[in-house]
Amino acid sequence: MKIGIIGAGAMGSGIAQVAAMAGNDVKIYDANDVAIEQGLNSIRQNLHRLAEKGKISILRASEISNKITATERLHGLGGCDLIIEAIIEDLAVKKSIFSELEMSVTEECILATNTSSLSVTAIAGACRLAERVVGIHFFNPATLMPLVEVIPALQTPQYLTEKVVKIIESWGKTVVVAKDTPGFIVNRIARPFYSEALRIYDEGIADFRTIDNAMRAVGFKMGPFELMDLIGHDVNYAVTESVWKATYFEPRYKPSVTQKRLVEAGFLGRKTEQGFYQYPTQTIENNGDINSDLLKYISNRILAILINEAYDALFWNIATKEDIETAMTKGVNYPKGLLAWGQEIRLENVAKTMNDLHEKYREERYRASPLLTDKRF
Ligand code: NAI
Repeated sequence: MKIGIIGAGAMGSGIAQVAAMAGNDVKIYDANDVAIEQGLNSIRQNLHRLAEKGKISILRASEISNKITATERLHGLGGCDLIIEAIIEDLAVKKSIFSELEMSVTEECILATNTSSLSVTAIAGACRLAERVVGIHFFNPATLMPLVEVIPALQTPQYLTEKVVKIIESWGKTVVVAKDTPGFIVNRIARPFYSEALRIYDEGIADFRTIDNAMRAVGFKMGPFELMDLIGHDVNYAVTESVWKATYFEPRYKPSVTQKRLVEAGFLGRKTEQGFYQYPTQTIENNGDINSDLLKYISNRILAILINEAYDALFWNIATKEDIETAMTKGVNYPKGLLAWGQEIRLENVAKTMNDLHEKYREERYRASPLLTDKRF
């Protein structure tokens, strides 16, 4: 297939590499020449590293690299079968590039957006042939993360969704299908991992290092604070705020002032060497003096809210049971699927934790999902 990529940044260049490694011819366009050069360079470096590690031959690295070419004009993507847009996360800019793009592509060309927070339906709405538009949401880094969420817009017919799922699976990815709702699957269900950790910290129940240790102790590879530091507080805060606003200010997704202050201060995490932790020296290692009841309280509280969120996503038909489990284990490396985890610790216990929190705080954010007490589970 001929694949077009718009935007040669972190995501666009990663997706281009994935597509080329799967045997496709790839053309990249970016409004900024320097970004194209940097994008192509980063792909070459990645391939070089794979060859150095012996994962691919030097010949194969150069074959893959030769499959990716740049174009200086959007019209240069004219002959493509599938175009994936990965430009700035701005609805007006995305809408305008999609409607311009439609003037130079064939009627059969599929147009996809890699947006992580905008409405795919709204982007499709800007197109003459809205039914050719779909969301294809890769995770960062696209070359390493196995999960891709496919998001049909309201206008997307079933056959196109199925076709896109097959294409992306043939690129070696695990695909889940999500309803076009704020945060799709992963960015919706993962919200409490950060927000409840921040809440516990803000209440002074525990420091951030203790909270990280509590979540590591139940199997998470990283605690919420070290993960937020890695993602970048600017990015993490923006996703939370966007999901919160797009759900008409659902209290469960309310952003944290503490995180906002970090963003304002420029303490963005690893990339600025200062977030909750200081880098590169500080670690989250146990200080050997941790109260195990406290650790249990923290992990129990955050886990219950995460499980509640997963069941609520199922309640609202955001995705199938299987896709909800796959999304969280492959998209954010959770140690187990949250629905199964809920069964394991028993849903009545999860409901009790939620109800106790609701009783204590009298806040809507702690309301239990109806599915927690549904006899079918
Ligand atoms: P980035 O900032 O690394 O790259 C964006 C690229 O788009 C830049 O090279 C820029 O020059 C180019 N660009 C901006 N406006 C343009 C226009 N009008 N026409 C052509 N090129 C234009 O951004 P990144 O991180 O790659 O994100 C791209 C998209 O992917 C966004 O929609 C983002 O929400 C989404 N996404 C990002 C993830 C991440 O972790 N970074 C994960 C999943 C999705």
